[in-house]
Amino acid sequence: MKIQIINGPNLNLLGTREPDIYGNSSFDAFLPELRAQYPDVEIEYYQSNIEGELIDRMQEVGFTADGIVLNAGAYTHTSIALHDCILSLACPVVEVHISNVHKREEFRRKSMIASACIGIIAGFGLHSYSLAIAGLLARNEPSADNG
Ligand code: DQA
Repeated sequence: MKIQIINGPNLNLLGTREPDIYGNSSFDAFLPELRAQYPDVEIEYYQSNIEGELIDRMQEVGFTADGIVLNAGAYTHTSIALHDCILSLACPVVEVHISNVHKREEFRRKSMIASACIGIIAGFGLHSYSLAIAGLLARNEPSADNG
């Protein structure tokens, strides 16, 4: 099983960026912990601040990976291009947020990508990524109802 994690703009600053909202850990520090949690899953990681680069990466992996865990950052709320990209891929995509976007500013309540994703996880800090992987794995279980 191969899962691609993709982080969008400003998520390279995790650990120093608004730590009261996003926590004190960088993603690089968290990644080994996540990989240890899922030893049988090949977890790849990519981050970019550039919308087109996120799309390029999704197109690169979206026909071979078993799933994509996408935190599109602020592009979540604006990007029709990411929405269209998700729809064009063969693999399922989970929308992830570290913070509970529904508890914050009004503009964060709107997601341009949610309707193209198989599910959404938000508000569990970095555990949101782990829960998204658990969701993708559960879909592959024989008893799964993927409705
Ligand atoms: C975020 C929430 C977005 O609204 C924000 O623009 C981010 C991070 C989150 O993980 O909570 O950059 O996606």
